[in-house]
Amino acid sequence: MACTLYNYRQLILLSLTVTLLWKSTVSVNRDNFKTCDQSGFCKRHRAMQSGQSPYVLLLDSLQVSPTSLSVQLLNTKNNVRLLLQLYGLERNTARVKINELEPLKPRYEIPVGDALVGEPKQQGIKVLDQSSESITVGLENNKILLSAKPFRIDVISGDEPILSINAQGLLKFEHLRKKEEAKVEEPPAGPDQGEENKDENSEGEKDEAKEADQSENKEEEEPMMWEETFKSFTDSKPNGPTSVGVDVSFPGFEHVYGIPEHADTMALKSTKDTDPYRLFNLDVFEYELYNPMALYGSVPLMLAHNEKNTVGIYWNNAAETWIDIRSNVADKNFFSKMADLVKGSTDMPQTDTHWFSEAGVIDIFIVMGPTPNDVFQQYTKLTGTQELPPLFGISYHQCRWNYNDQDDVKNVDSTMDEYDIPFDVIWLDIEHTDGKRYFTWDSHKFPNSVEMIENVAAKGRKMVTIVDPHLKRDDNFKVYADCKSKDMTVKTKEGGEYEGWCWPGSSSWPDFTNPEVRKWWSSKFHYDEYSGSTKNLHIWNDMNEPSVFNGPEITFHKDVVHMGGFENRDLHNMYGFYVQQATSEGILERSKNQQRPFVLTRAFFAGSQRFGAVWTGDNMGEWSHLKVSNPMLLSLNLAGITFSGADVGGFFRNPDNELITRWYQAGAFQPFFRAHAHLDTKRREPYLLPQENMLIIRNAIRTRYSFLPYWYTLFYKAYKEGIPVMRPLWVEYPSDKDTFNMDDQYLVGSSLLVKPITDQGGTGTTVYFPGKNHVWYDIESLQKYNGGQSAYINAPLAKIPVFQRGGSIIPRKIRVRRSSGLMHNDPFTLVICLDSKGEALGELYTDDYHSNQHKTGQYIHRTFSFKNSVLQGSNADPNGQYKSKEWIEKIIVIGYMTQPKSIQLTVDGRVSNLDGTYDNTHKVLTVRKPAVNVAQDFIIHVV
Ligand code: NOJ
Repeated sequence: MACTLYNYRQLILLSLTVTLLWKSTVSVNRDNFKTCDQSGFCKRHRAMQSGQSPYVLLLDSLQVSPTSLSVQLLNTKNNVRLLLQLYGLERNTARVKINELEPLKPRYEIPVGDALVGEPKQQGIKVLDQSSESITVGLENNKILLSAKPFRIDVISGDEPILSINAQGLLKFEHLRKKEEAKVEEPPAGPDQGEENKDENSEGEKDEAKEADQSENKEEEEPMMWEETFKSFTDSKPNGPTSVGVDVSFPGFEHVYGIPEHADTMALKSTKDTDPYRLFNLDVFEYELYNPMALYGSVPLMLAHNEKNTVGIYWNNAAETWIDIRSNVADKNFFSKMADLVKGSTDMPQTDTHWFSEAGVIDIFIVMGPTPNDVFQQYTKLTGTQELPPLFGISYHQCRWNYNDQDDVKNVDSTMDEYDIPFDVIWLDIEHTDGKRYFTWDSHKFPNSVEMIENVAAKGRKMVTIVDPHLKRDDNFKVYADCKSKDMTVKTKEGGEYEGWCWPGSSSWPDFTNPEVRKWWSSKFHYDEYSGSTKNLHIWNDMNEPSVFNGPEITFHKDVVHMGGFENRDLHNMYGFYVQQATSEGILERSKNQQRPFVLTRAFFAGSQRFGAVWTGDNMGEWSHLKVSNPMLLSLNLAGITFSGADVGGFFRNPDNELITRWYQAGAFQPFFRAHAHLDTKRREPYLLPQENMLIIRNAIRTRYSFLPYWYTLFYKAYKEGIPVMRPLWVEYPSDKDTFNMDDQYLVGSSLLVKPITDQGGTGTTVYFPGKNHVWYDIESLQKYNGGQSAYINAPLAKIPVFQRGGSIIPRKIRVRRSSGLMHNDPFTLVICLDSKGEALGELYTDDYHSNQHKTGQYIHRTFSFKNSVLQGSNADPNGQYKSKEWIEKIIVIGYMTQPKSIQLTVDGRVSNLDGTYDNTHKVLTVRKPAVNVAQDFIIHVV
């Protein structure tokens, strides 16, 4: 399709007569982004040969405390010593940290409390065995073996090896040095030298240390260590080479997942013939699919899963990071030597990964599962769980760049009502501001923003405005002037204010890495500072990678300086995290911590889940982008960021009616559900579509609303326990190998199976129903399908293939309203799908849907069970004290095999009869009006 749209960045750059940086192509301009070959440290790490590790553990330096040990690591090639620390952490988690023993100056570490929610709780370790060659430590049911020469770490869970560090010998730690120290001494290591290294006999680490002490610094100088040029940009690298890297292998695992954000399959692929997966937050225009290029956000968490175990590693480093992946077989020789620790010695598949970051330290958290849910809980213990969104946040959002003025907003709001299409939030993009000065309004287009917001709010709705982190360099713009006068901007390496180009033209960026700056930014959301805002206005943070139109790779120069003298190189991937954190804290503060904020961000890092929602940026209105939204969101969900979505309809281009309809159907079953479109696209609010499509879209949105109690309960579980809302099938069916690569169908919670149609002209699809003894019911036709097999499902345009698991009880609200705000007190319908034994379980969480009072007991958490024809509603959590007006209006039991004679309700010892109907064809029993309050215990006997 020819590209008739403008590349919007080009537009602004042209108008600003800045150098043209983007080609008007239909897809990503790869030239703007570095390949591994163009990145000095990536090249250096990737060129390493396995089996040549120069590192040995100096076991005589070992110090053991009740919860940790420390030991020196010597690089026998250059005589530099590192310090390795191993910590036992609560919940089957270990931490391996490697830093220079005596760095010239402190290396950057992400402050505790930022990505890590706090100091991880330590747990006792036990030395099980110690010799001159190794030390074995016990942690819960695991053994961690540290071998001295060559250095490696192996983790054995029970009697299965699950993870090895430096088994390939790729540890590389570029120590800080002064430029003049560097010497060009040796040609790169050849195979012979490698053999020498391998054959060295082990005379003990003391001799090794002495030998190395006597040797000279023999590290080779390589190009791009002290300066690097990419296109017209020179990176001055004042600290020279600072990168760190090591390999991590997963013996017994063929599948690894996570490390978002990439537009790729959920199961990660071998990078043998491609670049490594890259994590470096970037604004990538018209991104390409199915490749490992970096995108807007980064979560350096990888999960490995097989039929028996799930493990994960979190690489706690905020610098640019690349990850290589290879399929392999485990090293039989090594593991057979460990016969007393490990069982079996048949060929074992293995996935080898190799991680390297441009700066910082090596800080690996090993979360040892063994189940997927254990891994989620272990990881979210470290980086926090998803903050509980207000109900409107998980409802439907109507956005475009731009709703032009107040009348436009009013018109969209009332036309949605005219067509009876529910929606909760209408969004304003950058054009609503006075010349892209955020926190301001274009006074001609939005002369009375308060009235506009409150009119929308009268129907239980909200508004969102965009607030980007770049500040127009205009001394009359008070946010900028204030930031400048307080000397709070990011600095150039010479110490001046860093200047770059973004939407407003010449801009500066607050240094969000500084907690004082974050406090200052938060205060800008107070009602007296953000004039024209009200409590019904929430926020969207965009361009926070940050996007710098005339910067290298469209972002900050790596040598710009943040708080503490650290460079952007050290912490780049945290910048966007801090922007969202400061915004979310501001919204919280303005309500004196009473209201839950809603903040959407484009850039993110591990832990961003604590501050709101994430979306997958500028996708395209094409079928392939609809399709990739599922694996992209699954990867985010696996990595803790469960409140995530993709622009419904696609941001660029004009999707045809079929595509947009299918996209709404998919979006209705994804966690964050927002339609958005580029400035130059045709208007596409649902009511503008032909009636057939409008009706189908309306139905998809209404279906979303009817499931809101279920979504909300799942979000509560995510908030409480870290379990993602959107799940790959293997999370619930961990031993079912057939599901390990499946990313075109998924589960919402454990009870809904979803397979959106993502192919043009699709009129059906083959759905795999997991669980050998399970049954699944089509949520519309109630047709029953047996688990453990696939079936072809007809799916004409109006049909969304969604199935409820037999054995589950899903609370729904089926009255159609204009917004979720108007549904707060509506009654519930319990939809019970029976399993083959005629049983089912479910739960429901409810509160006031918007405040933080749930944190002090103002909530209700109920469980429902159906067994032997008895439905019981009971309290799941006695700490929940909320007085809700919600009640149970209807109960639908699907798969109930005989017509009942009577239905009796017992509440507080009082028995009454209930009305019901029975549909013998579909085997559906409907019980009317038990009319019990949601907080009440009750029993219903079907006789
Ligand atoms: C880029 C964002 O990704 C897009 O969603 C937004 O509409 C534009 N910036 C304009 O603010």
